[in-house]
Order: sequence, then structure tokens, then C-alpha cells
Amino acid sequence: MRNTTLGAHGPEVGVIGLGAMGMSFAYDMGAPRDEATSISVIHQALDLGMTLIDTADVYGPYTNEELLGRALAGQRDRAVIATKVGREIIDPIGGPGGSPLVKSNGRPEHVRASIDGSLRRLGTDHVELYQLHRVDAEVPIEETWGAMAEAVAAGKVRYLGLSEVTVEQIQRAQAVHPVTAVQSEFSLWSRDVQAEVLPYCERNGIGFLPYSPLGRGFLVGRFASFDELPENDQRRRLPRFQQDNLRANLDIAAKVREVAERIGATPAQVALAWLIAQGSYIVPIPGTKTPRYLADNAGAADLRLSAADLADLDSIPAPVGARY
Ligand SMILES: NC(=O)c1ccc[n+]([C@@H]2O[C@H](COP(=O)([O-])OP(=O)(O)OC[C@H]3O[C@@H](n4cnc5c(N)ncnc54)[C@H](OP(=O)(O)O)[C@@H]3O)[C@@H](O)[C@H]2O)c1
Repeated sequence: MRNTTLGAHGPEVGVIGLGAMGMSFAYDMGAPRDEATSISVIHQALDLGMTLIDTADVYGPYTNEELLGRALAGQRDRAVIATKVGREIIDPIGGPGGSPLVKSNGRPEHVRASIDGSLRRLGTDHVELYQLHRVDAEVPIEETWGAMAEAVAAGKVRYLGLSEVTVEQIQRAQAVHPVTAVQSEFSLWSRDVQAEVLPYCERNGIGFLPYSPLGRGFLVGRFASFDELPENDQRRRLPRFQQDNLRANLDIAAKVREVAERIGATPAQVALAWLIAQGSYIVPIPGTKTPRYLADNAGAADLRLSAADLADLDSIPAPVGARY
């Protein structure tokens, strides 16, 4: 796979990465996990050059980092690890519908206490990218970011990233320590970042990691009705996946499928190739625990969409329903 540089001065990574969250967290939590297959998917990603692997301490919590640590045992140097800090599960079943109740924690002492746990679980003495999962509204970003910069100075972290931030928040962080990458939801049905955040990242040499680049499976046609969502699954609580909204949004997935059929690609490849075409600083992190999906997603790196295909995809209307 082709490589790109994450931000002007960051690490070299494959132009498509891998999101590991769904291997341990958020989706289809009633189903047993097949750790051996998840580990083989991580190895497959590395073999194909999808070197950036995204995780977070809160995924599980903790078990996703542990899984990645086991997968990378003996081959740590092949991966660019991106993990996150700043979210905590305060009640495993206290959220809507018995889901985990998650809260931001950007206090410097929490950041200082968290990095060593992440390194231990990941089985490494450093991570390439340490990301602030969400800005804590009760803590000035300068304080949180300053504590994250201490981890860089201590050699535990190479670069810092932000997630779901405004341009103003990026600027405030930059005044303390360079921002190497921003991670936010970005896909054919989540384009808010195109207005301000993406142009700012491009102008300022900041890499951008689109998360949920396949619309959590919706854009590839996985769900035609609310009832098709697994029982214990975060998507059941998201506005866009509620029955009426989901039905109203089916035309979006149909358009992606139409373009894919026209050019002999798959819907996932079209959704990812559209993202890559938005700029060389953009590295999508599709999530999967399924070997054939991983191979499918990797194929997007070689897919060049024509100007007409891009225009066709750009014309997709905004979806019904908020992201969260
Ligand atoms: N910063 C944040 O706040 C934040 C929030 C959400 C996610 N993320 C990161 O972004 C990563 C990706 O996002 P995501 O997992 O939410 O959504 P996604 O990548 O848009 O979609 C994942 C879903 O699509 C399915 N899938 C993947 N490739 C497919 C293919 N080629 N054909 C058919 N189905 C396919 C997966 O199935 P299987 O799992 O069954 O294989 C899974 O159900 C996460 O793993 C996480 O690292 C970050």
C-alpha cells in the first residue's frame, strides 16, 4: 500500500489504517469475541501496509489495548499505534438502554496516570500517536494538552492528536504543543468537518483520521432496517439508525452501491476512495474484525475515482438524523 506522512512532520503510515474498536467494544456486544480472528486481522492489516492501528483505553475498557498488545507481541515495530485518553467508563451499565455510561476526564492527573497503563497493556515503551478522545468541558484544553505533552517529553509518546474538536480548540492546543493529527467522524454521510476543520488541517500540516468512515457499516449496505442491528449494539442508540431515519437514509447507501457497481468496485472501496481523494493528509481508519472485509477495505488504496464519480458522490444529500 502507498504511504503518506501523518501531518507535515508525523510518522509514515499506509494511506488506509485499521480501527480496532469493534473487536472489543461498542458493536454487537452480545456476540462472543473471536480473539484469534481479530489478531489475524491485525496481522493481515500490517501485511497489506495498513500500518496505523487505532485504539483507546476506554475501548473495553482496556481490553482493546490488551488485544492489540497481544497481536503486536514480537512485531511491535511494524505498527504505528494510535491510542487515546480522556474518556472514562463510570458505570458499565448506567447509560441509555443499559449501555456503558462514559464521561470525559481531561484532568492532568488523569492523563499522567493513564499513559503508563496504556503502554503496559500495549506491551510497548512508547506509542506513536496519543490522542485526546474528547475535550473535557470542565478542564481548559491547555491543561490537558500540557499533561499529554509531558508524555512526549518523557519519551512515552512521539506525537499528539485530538478527536472531535473545533478549529478554536486545535489552535489553543497548538499554542502549547504541536497537533500532529485530528480524528473526527468523516464519511459520505458525516461531512460537518468539511466546513472548517479539514481546510484548517490542510493549511496547517495536520493529518486527519476519518473515524467511522463506512458510516458504522451503513454506507456499505449492512443495515436496511433497525431490526437488523444486533441486540447489544451502540448503533441502536444513535439517531441516524432509528427506524424512520434509517429508512429515509437508504438512498445514500443505494447511491454508494450504484457507483460501486458502475466501476466494478465494492461499496466499502468507494466510500474509502472518496475519503482518500479529499486530500493526501487524510488517512481513514475503517473498523473490522472480519478478514474478507479487511482485504476489501485495503483494495480502496488503489481505486482512483473519476471526477464524474466524485461529483456523483458529492451530490449525496445530508442524512436524516444527528450523528449522536
Ligand atoms: N474518536 C472517536 O470518538 C471514535 C468514534 C468511533 C470510532 N472511532 C475509531 O474509528 C474506527 C472505525 O469506526 P467504526 O468501527 O465506528 O465504523 P466503520 O469503520 O465506519 O464501520 C465499521 C462497521 O463496518 C463493518 N465493515 C467494515 N468493513 C466492511 C466491509 N468492507 N464490508 C462490509 N462491512 C464492513 C464492520 O463489520 P465487522 O466489525 O463485523 O467486521 C463494522 O460493523 C473504530 O474502530 C475506532 O478506532 C473513533
